[in-house]
Amino acid sequence: MYSKEDTREYQKQTADLLKKAGKGISANEIEALRHVLRFHEHRYYILNDPLVSDFEYDQLYKALEKLEAENPSLIKPDSPTQRVAKDLTKDFPTVQHLVPMLSLDNSYNSDDLFDFDRKARELTGLPVIEYCVEPKFDGGSISLIYENDLLTRGATRGDGVEGDEVTINVKQIRSLPLSAAFSSYGIQQIEIRGEVLINKTNFARYNEKLVEQGLSPLANPRNAAAGTLRIKDPKEAARRNLEAFVYHVSYYALEKGKKVPAELTTHAGSLSLLWDLGFRSPEKEKRIFKGIEGVIKYCAEFETGRDNLPYEIDGMVIKVNDFALQEKMGMTSHHPRWAIAYKFKARQGTTRLLDVEFQVGRTGAVTPVAKLEPVGIGGVTVSSISVHNEEYIREKDLRKGDRVLVERAGDVIPQIVKSLPDARTGKETAIVFPKTCPVCNSKLFKEEEEAVWRCVNIECPAQVVERIIHFVSKDAMDIRGFGEANVRKFYELQLLKDIPGIYTLDFNGLSGMEGFGQKSIDNLQTAIANSKKQPLHRLIYALGIRFVGETTAKTLAQAVNHLLDFKRFSLEDLQNLEDVGPKVAGSIHHFFSNKSNIEMLELLEKAGLQLKNEKKQLVTGGNLTGQTFLFTGTLPTLKRSEAEAIAEENGGQILSGVSAKLNYLVVGEDAGSKLEKAKKINTVKIISEAEFLQLTGKK
Ligand code: IVH
Repeated sequence: MYSKEDTREYQKQTADLLKKAGKGISANEIEALRHVLRFHEHRYYILNDPLVSDFEYDQLYKALEKLEAENPSLIKPDSPTQRVAKDLTKDFPTVQHLVPMLSLDNSYNSDDLFDFDRKARELTGLPVIEYCVEPKFDGGSISLIYENDLLTRGATRGDGVEGDEVTINVKQIRSLPLSAAFSSYGIQQIEIRGEVLINKTNFARYNEKLVEQGLSPLANPRNAAAGTLRIKDPKEAARRNLEAFVYHVSYYALEKGKKVPAELTTHAGSLSLLWDLGFRSPEKEKRIFKGIEGVIKYCAEFETGRDNLPYEIDGMVIKVNDFALQEKMGMTSHHPRWAIAYKFKARQGTTRLLDVEFQVGRTGAVTPVAKLEPVGIGGVTVSSISVHNEEYIREKDLRKGDRVLVERAGDVIPQIVKSLPDARTGKETAIVFPKTCPVCNSKLFKEEEEAVWRCVNIECPAQVVERIIHFVSKDAMDIRGFGEANVRKFYELQLLKDIPGIYTLDFNGLSGMEGFGQKSIDNLQTAIANSKKQPLHRLIYALGIRFVGETTAKTLAQAVNHLLDFKRFSLEDLQNLEDVGPKVAGSIHHFFSNKSNIEMLELLEKAGLQLKNEKKQLVTGGNLTGQTFLFTGTLPTLKRSEAEAIAEENGGQILSGVSAKLNYLVVGEDAGSKLEKAKKINTVKIISEAEFLQLTGKK
């Protein structure tokens, strides 16, 4: 798509535009700016190899938004800004596909593929056939129409003849270009097919968020992708980070007098054409083979490596490469005769749901866990699966004794897809949620808008153990040698009863314990000693405050000089921190208002843990000593981080939000809500970068 020379040229233009971005880019450069943005989108979403930081991309994108807001007549439908939709979609009209979207015939082993090859040779009368092989992407299928180079319609498969028009959501998929130069091949209109996916990381992240909010997670990435295509809120569709592969040209109309381009005489050629126009086609994954033997080997190779891919595939698709031969072979009413899917071993299985146990987590949430008759799925035995909450059980109509369909999508946690009511005998029984904590027996509570029942007794032994397990875990204090099993063992033996107890552990008491030799004791002792040096943000994360993940922990660590400073933070102070909303602020406030939490922190400090924010130690004697600063907007010469460093080097302190504690707000171009807020507080002085540098006495 972009040659080396193009790339060099775009990089030059990028540097040039970035320099101008703060001050203003002139309207006659708007098209160049769009080209540069499209180039970087291609690097990021298609090649997975960005050449600018997210921040730099955002600066250019914002500059384009500004230019378009000032010059609405210059907006074009394929501008990178035009993906974003403002309103909710009312409904998705039904539309007819230009060519029916057929399914594929399936094969499961090499015999099936030998059969397919034999039939193909019979139908064509050829001794050897050339095949093109590519992955079978496991998502939701879409059909796209481009007319005069512009994406004009995106539709779901529907019944194959008619689907739902979901153009607005399709435009949220950054790996699909809003315009592509089909006209350079003489093509006036084209219909292409592809698959919309959500990659495994984004899927796991999305499900985590749902569970955190007490909502039901989705069973697999396929459902997540297909469901998102039909979601009414395009902004939510954008947030889920869908991706798309395109793999089939189903129809095209040429401009008058134009000849069929050579690329459109073979399937492999059509994939290259799409790739060259900026689409994500399986250009790198496809292979061409003469005869079926190579095909079989390649399919096996891909099956072995499927877990290493960032997205799910459920097989391979084998297509006769030559379009003229495809035409000759034709199709049935269900599938083309020139293609076949080779399905990988299923990662689904059915088994019996024997019982449901209720586990109490670190925040007191009671999670039902289904105990299953062990079943092998894709090489892993599954015998226990979380069924999340009461609503999830009701939605899926799960009963004890049911046969259930279980799916394990690669490295994604296994899920129950559904119960199989037809297999019921009448002996199945309802799953009854307990009213009291299964561990400490105290009454369970459920907040109105939540799906989760909670044990609110913070002394509940289950919660205490889970909190210790979280505290020592890898991403928290990283105390190796502890591990979940040891924490449970030590707790049962009353060698460890709370988090501070980690630092007063009686190592002599451990010796002689089964599986605990001197070496393990020494290792554990060293790991515990080392954990005292962990930076503040890790400690904050390790405390397991509800809704405080690693990112929020970093924000919090930056906001104070000492962890106990949070005792004095009001809800409002907390909400002024970046990305801290009312729910998170409430939880943090609740934590630091609790006496036993404060006592625990004091004990940890006595034990030698780092409660001070080391980087934030004030420089005394600097010109800015005792003064607080916040930077907003794009500064003319300094990067935000540089400006903050200068302030700190001179004794100043950086706050993360506007409040009455702020002395100076240093504003650059495009300062937003912080500036508005600061104007309302009389004591905050609003200054420029130059004035700030003067304060330091260095300029
Ligand atoms: S070709 C006329 N190629 O699998 C042939 N389909 O089970 C059109 N799929 O409906 C299909 N990856 O949604 C083709 N590389 C690929 C594919 C693929 C996934 C989907 C497609 C199709 C379904 C059939």
